[in-house]
Amino acid sequence: NAQSLKKSYSPYFDIGAALGVREANGTEERAFAILEKHFNSLTPENLMKWGSIHPQPDQYNFEPMDRLVELAEKIDARVVGHTLVWHNQTPDWVYKDESGASLSKEALMERMENHIETVVGRYKGRVYGYDVVNEAFFDDGQYRTSKWFGTAGKDFIKRAFIKTNEVDPDTELYYNDYNMWKPEKTDAAIQLAKELREEGIRIDGIGMQGHYGLDSPSLEIIETAIEKIARAGFKVMFTEVDIDVLPNPVNRHGADIDATFPADESYNIYKEGLPEDIQEKLANRYRELFGLFKRHEDKITRVTFWGIHDGGSWLNNWPMPGRTAYPLVIDRNFQEKKDIIEALVQVAEN
Ligand code: G3I
Repeated sequence: NAQSLKKSYSPYFDIGAALGVREANGTEERAFAILEKHFNSLTPENLMKWGSIHPQPDQYNFEPMDRLVELAEKIDARVVGHTLVWHNQTPDWVYKDESGASLSKEALMERMENHIETVVGRYKGRVYGYDVVNEAFFDDGQYRTSKWFGTAGKDFIKRAFIKTNEVDPDTELYYNDYNMWKPEKTDAAIQLAKELREEGIRIDGIGMQGHYGLDSPSLEIIETAIEKIARAGFKVMFTEVDIDVLPNPVNRHGADIDATFPADESYNIYKEGLPEDIQEKLANRYRELFGLFKRHEDKITRVTFWGIHDGGSWLNNWPMPGRTAYPLVIDRNFQEKKDIIEALVQVAEN
């Protein structure tokens, strides 16, 4: 299989990558060969989020997403729509009327439904599945007190799924969240998915983002979550996988954080390069994780890396800027990390 991730894993699940604008529109030329070789699923990292694709009330910015969809079709990859409704990267005007007053529930829902109709309608038949709603829970399983929830309660979730299904009945519909290995959070997401299903609202799968560290969370705890979701009757996908090798004073989840961090480089301990023993640990962690994914290939439909190469990873800027991060399987020079790719291909073939 010429050390190709997508070929090696094609009997089991899709292998995806999240893309930025430059990679999607072809101005990052080094990305193309890698994408074509290893990935059969593409997720827009930012360019389909509300603030990017719908920055002003009467202005849609479809261009970058159009390019991404064309690229996906060129390399025969499926497109994942990320994300229709989120509390983050959503402009403030979304929640307000022309005088600046907060919208009523009905007005906000109408605005959300119009957004979904326009975006999903445009790409109808070309997007394989949507992260319809992203990160609606806190880690303890309580509903996140976002503007969406504050104004509409959980109806915003129901109506987002109903609308997406109505506009594109053939696209898959997912709920997506981070720290989905935490039992309270997994249970809350499953409970939500069951409620939708009981009300006749379609939901096909639950996305576990997968922003992990070298040692945590444990394989066992991730495995428990996979099994629970599958037992409840929903597809499982790992939607934003990366492994942070740097010291990180907060949970590795990818949400907004309140803390501020020293502007010095005390957290940037590998800026001259990754020591061999840490590289080995990283390869090992990836091998174990993919071993777990493969053992559950009957439940898992996709594993997506959050980025293509280390240099483009959001972890260079989070939780503080100026980090030199090594979370992915392609390095800063767009070279494959041979040890990791080989290990993953081996996992697939054994
Ligand atoms: O586009 C502007 C640019 O014009 C400006 O010059 C620059 C200066 O900081 O910022 C650019 O925007 C940044 C954007 O990424 C594009 O690079 C934002 O500041 C930055 O906040 C934004 O971060 C994204 C983050 O979501 C926002 O919360 C990350 O790239 C993206 O990887 C991350 O993805 C999320 C998933 O969607 C959901 N799960 C967690 C995951 C990680 O946070």
